[in-house]
Amino acid sequence: DWTAANIADALVEQVREQIGDGRAICGLSGGVDSAVAAALVQRAIGDRLTCVFVDHGLMREGERQQVEKDFVAATGARLVTVDASETFLRELAGVTDPETKRKIIGREFIRSFEGAVSEVLGEGADKGETVKFLVQGTLYPDVVESGGGSGTANIKSHHNVGGLPEDLEFELVEPLRLLFKDEVRAVGRQLGLPEEIVGRQPFPGPGLGIRIIGEVTRERLEILRRADSIAREELTSAGLDGQIWQCPVVLLADVRSVGVQGDGRTYGHPIVLRPVSSEDAMTADWTRLPYETLERISTRITNEVAEVNRVVLDVTSKPPGTIEWE
Ligand code: XMP
Repeated sequence: DWTAANIADALVEQVREQIGDGRAICGLSGGVDSAVAAALVQRAIGDRLTCVFVDHGLMREGERQQVEKDFVAATGARLVTVDASETFLRELAGVTDPETKRKIIGREFIRSFEGAVSEVLGEGADKGETVKFLVQGTLYPDVVESGGGSGTANIKSHHNVGGLPEDLEFELVEPLRLLFKDEVRAVGRQLGLPEEIVGRQPFPGPGLGIRIIGEVTRERLEILRRADSIAREELTSAGLDGQIWQCPVVLLADVRSVGVQGDGRTYGHPIVLRPVSSEDAMTADWTRLPYETLERISTRITNEVAEVNRVVLDVTSKPPGTIEWE
């Protein structure tokens, strides 16, 4: 019987068997999947789980605070935050190829987890004590689209699947590997996670790093973060969050176009809005947002973000476009 309760119980049991009396860490991204995976594993092994939040500097406005507040409040889980933005940005410097970005980000996540182990174990730890397991919120579509399913091409390497380094020191625990997003949400509710977490729209682990088309720099991240936060604010205040699956906001950092503002010429960057509707992210349609909302977003972004002088709308379904641009 497929009920959320049955699935949750079975997954908890499976995790208990895999981990035994070992210790695990779980990378939290701020998204639904890692939160539900962490909650499952916490139910299975209690405080032998420590959650690790890697701040890679590619987060959206307010995201770090949200993880540190909402998730900990909801679960009481132990949380260690790693500040790794310098390292991520250094490793990403000069890189423009999407797959290379994804691989670097996947690798640096793992390096950050490895670096967090001593802090996770704490000062009282015995010599030889270690953290053997790494929990990830990998879903079925991540596996399939990273080329892990039978007969499928590698469309893109999701940071937690195809982006992993080969010399991985951890054994992976991926309790959600056979589930789709709506099932994950049902399991999360079953485990008592609040709606602010379970209902959250998807956001990719590599964050804004794959929403800047071109090299990722601190300045560009700042531009995109401001545009993204305006778009999210307007979608929420128009009451549209429930109608869209997610709305990536993308900065075409290497493209410039001429504009006019006040009585001067501008030569700025375009921002792309990519609102999509979907059931499981395997296919998607572009969402027909109301013109008034689009207009408000466009006006505010071009007024409030000086480096941006054009806002464009992506009207491509998936296929042929993927949801994210990289
Ligand atoms: P695409 O762009 O492949 O996206 O159509 C499908 C869904 O997956 C999300 N996505 C990711 N999530 N790590 C993640 O955790 C990743 O590397 C990654 N890449 C894409 C994307 O936001 C969409 O919901």
